[in-house]
Amino acid sequence: AGFWCVVPAAGRGMRVGGDRPKQYLPLAGRPLIEHTLERLAAHSRVAGLLVVLAADDPLWPGHVQLRGKPVRTVAGGAERSDSVLAGLDALPAEVAAGDFVLVHDAARPCVRHADIDRLLDLAGAADGGLLGAPLRDTLKRADARGRSVATEPREARWRAFTPQMFRRGPLAAALREAARRGLAPSDEAMAMELAGHAPLLVEGAEDNLKVTTAADFALAEFLLAKTAG
Ligand code: CTP
Ligand code: MG
Repeated sequence: AGFWCVVPAAGRGMRVGGDRPKQYLPLAGRPLIEHTLERLAAHSRVAGLLVVLAADDPLWPGHVQLRGKPVRTVAGGAERSDSVLAGLDALPAEVAAGDFVLVHDAARPCVRHADIDRLLDLAGAADGGLLGAPLRDTLKRADARGRSVATEPREARWRAFTPQMFRRGPLAAALREAARRGLAPSDEAMAMELAGHAPLLVEGAEDNLKVTTAADFALAEFLLAKTAG
């Protein structure tokens, strides 16, 4: 069967500040999002892609076909969490409420297949989880003047990546409940935490970079080649 993957790509890329949203800026000669979608579609356990686009996105090329796998699109919302919920609601009916789905940022083109495999195996056995990595650096608390006023414990602190993997129904319910409370959880795991779940943290490679600033493109180009296959 395989897993459907929801790809939020409805952001505006304000921190990059380009002439178009970052997912359409060139990376190694092609729009960034093409690399992300290609890498997901090339994974043998990915069944289809649900790409969440800005309403009336003029840059989406239209009928995309990737390795013979279905690609659907839907319009997203103001926050990433709104976009992901719209994506979940637009999944084909063949994806049951109890089926696992992946959510992966369009802005993370360098995800490794080996990490996707580990997530599918470990989070699938644990009722849901996410890729991430334990914090490496010493963590400081800043005051309003940018002075370091405390050193936070680094133990048990993780950075959260994507893909994140949850069952379709419970994830949609968690996102809907968060929205009802006026919250915009920054990732799927946060929505699940708010709903009382404890998603499994699956350690992934640090090079699963989320392209965030203009300077990240050069690094992503390097990492893209390094993480292929
Ligand atoms: N995203 C989305 N819908 C939103 C906001 C973000 O689908 N309302 C997507 C982005 O397109 C991106 C992913 O969520 O693929 C992660 O978000 P982020 O890195 O913050 O991208 P942007 O919001 O586009 O960038 P910025 O915050 O700098 O404006
Ligand atoms: Mg954003």
